[in-house]
Amino acid sequence: MYSDGNGRGAAALARKVTAPEIRARKGRGPAIAMATAYDFTMARLVDEAGIDVILVGDSLGMVVQGLPNTLPVTLEETCYHGRAVARAAVRAHVVGDMPFMSYQVSPAQAVESAGRLVKEGAFESVKLEGGEDMAEHVRRIVRAGVPVMGHVGLLPQSVHALGGFKVQGRGSEGAAKIVRDAVALEEAGVYAIVLEAVPPDVAEQVTSTVGVPTIGIGAGAACDGQVLVCTDLLGMSRGHAPRFTKRYAELGDAIVDAMQRYVSEVRSGAFPGPEHAYKENRADESGPPRVGDGAAGVGLRH
Ligand code: KIV
Repeated sequence: MYSDGNGRGAAALARKVTAPEIRARKGRGPAIAMATAYDFTMARLVDEAGIDVILVGDSLGMVVQGLPNTLPVTLEETCYHGRAVARAAVRAHVVGDMPFMSYQVSPAQAVESAGRLVKEGAFESVKLEGGEDMAEHVRRIVRAGVPVMGHVGLLPQSVHALGGFKVQGRGSEGAAKIVRDAVALEEAGVYAIVLEAVPPDVAEQVTSTVGVPTIGIGAGAACDGQVLVCTDLLGMSRGHAPRFTKRYAELGDAIVDAMQRYVSEVRSGAFPGPEHAYKENRADESGPPRVGDGAAGVGLRH
């Protein structure tokens, strides 16, 4: 094991949830708690809460950028958000979504893009969508030393081919296809598999068939873990929310309320009060500003 000049390498890794540790939770627990985050401030709070895995999902296209789907998200954008999240994640494992068309073209392209996510985005593993068709891509990325999380069921990057964001795995052939996809990913070397929008009995079948943890989103309670988009679970989303999300807080309403009170106090003059201002210049005319005095331009508290 190497360390940097300050001995931080080994110590920092010891505190981290790792891909092999997530893999080893299969059949043993504790259940894996995963949530998305896209920036430093949110990731720091999510990490402090004890989340095991932070996903910088390509859902950032919809949540952060306001797009109708995830397709336009780029590798550069994912890396930018990854670096911010990685700075905050002291304990949580940080996984990055491989954007649409950054891996589908060929296994070689997949290895190259996964490498960039690790080198430029500070990710500890990558996630990609697809089953049997992506098995060779996964195998090659894993062989290059990058852990891969699979994703089967509803594949948002295939929204046009699927005809919308629809439940997958219906009917016996639909269910069998999901199981085949998950088995192919396990054989290719993934350390965990996200199951999105599949009936709970299908998720249960997949979970009992594969030897790696399943992490469900809209896939019922039988999975080995759960993942939600942070803004959904915090109640910051507006408009239609999928049936499977649970709002653990109403931060959207709390933010609007706080902003409204701020607007009203700015307009009435109630903010800022004297306690929010620096010491008056007149009170200290005896000498030049000292270090620590706001007037010296240093020691400012933001
Ligand atoms: O992009 C994302 O946030 C995801 C989760 C919904 C699993 O892939």
